[in-house]
Amino acid sequence: MIRRFPVVLQLSLLVVAWINSQVIAGLTVDEQLEQLRINYIKMEQILAAKDSRLKSLELKVQHQGILEAQMIRLETEVNQMKAQAIRAQEPRLLTAQQQSRSNSNATSLRQGTTQLPKSCVDLKIMGHTLSGMFLIKGVKTVETVFCDFTLAATDPNFQTWIGYADIKSSPDSFHAQRVGLYDAVNTVVPYNLIRLNIGNDLNPLTGVFVAPKAGRYYFAFTGLGWATYVKVQLQMKVGSADWIKIGEAHGAAWNTMALQSTLQLAKGDQIRLVHLLGVIHDADGNNFSDFVGFLLEEDVFGC
Ligand SMILES: *[C@@H]1O[C@H](CO)[C@@H](O)[C@H](O)[C@H]1NC(C)=O
Ligand SMILES: *[C@@H]1O[C@H](CO)[C@@H](O)[C@H](O)[C@H]1NC(C)=O
Repeated sequence: MIRRFPVVLQLSLLVVAWINSQVIAGLTVDEQLEQLRINYIKMEQILAAKDSRLKSLELKVQHQGILEAQMIRLETEVNQMKAQAIRAQEPRLLTAQQQSRSNSNATSLRQGTTQLPKSCVDLKIMGHTLSGMFLIKGVKTVETVFCDFTLAATDPNFQTWIGYADIKSSPDSFHAQRVGLYDAVNTVVPYNLIRLNIGNDLNPLTGVFVAPKAGRYYFAFTGLGWATYVKVQLQMKVGSADWIKIGEAHGAAWNTMALQSTLQLAKGDQIRLVHLLGVIHDADGNNFSDFVGFLLEEDVFGC
């Protein structure tokens, strides 16, 4: 079987053959070429062997990287268990300061199995090498940490907790007003002047706000009473349970009534203002009443 050599190789083989012909006396040109062909095959075999050794070395390096990552994970898990054991021994009531410190420790030890990084260890495993401030997945919110990748993952300063990142999946706020007197007692107050309704979660016609996502919301109502005593109530409906009273505002004739509330709501929970007594004043379109609400903090995760 005659091997086909690449053109360049053929040329160089010819040169080598010529040199050899000067050196290896007594061999015919054919014999010399045959010798070269055998040498070439041997060389190929040696190269193939080297190639496979290189590949196995590469695999070993890769494997070592995985082992290192697994070791960091294990170390972190051990630290996490240690911290849990320490926390279990701590007295139940912590001061706010202690609590935030122990929380931040818990944060620094958290690490994940999902694709979203939960700690500097996760970020390192994902391939980050430059130290800096990073966003990580907290229990319910996004958090900010400083990762010092020059330190070992077990070093207490490897991850420094900075704080909660105020991230909302989308904004949510409204400002609704009433134009005209409102005297329909025992009804939900509707609104006919909408200044803002980001997210469209307040229905102006029914007067009901539906929480688009879990989080902490702020609501406030101020209004003016007409010629008599006036009374309104802020109500909340959680899931399929009945409406419950959150707050109530009273006002004497021609006086202000006001109420405010900050509430933890789940997606789908509802808020409304019920008119109980008297007349809400806006006879001349003076914009005397305001119902406002907005999402303070969203539980981005785990809800
Ligand atoms: C939190 O970590 C710091 C050092 O990083 C340590 O001094 C402190 O005791 C830890 N606190 C708790 C409650 O685990
Ligand atoms: C109340 O607000 C409306 C809408 O912005 C405005 O047209 C109207 O002039 C305001 N009323 C008064 C008395 O300023």
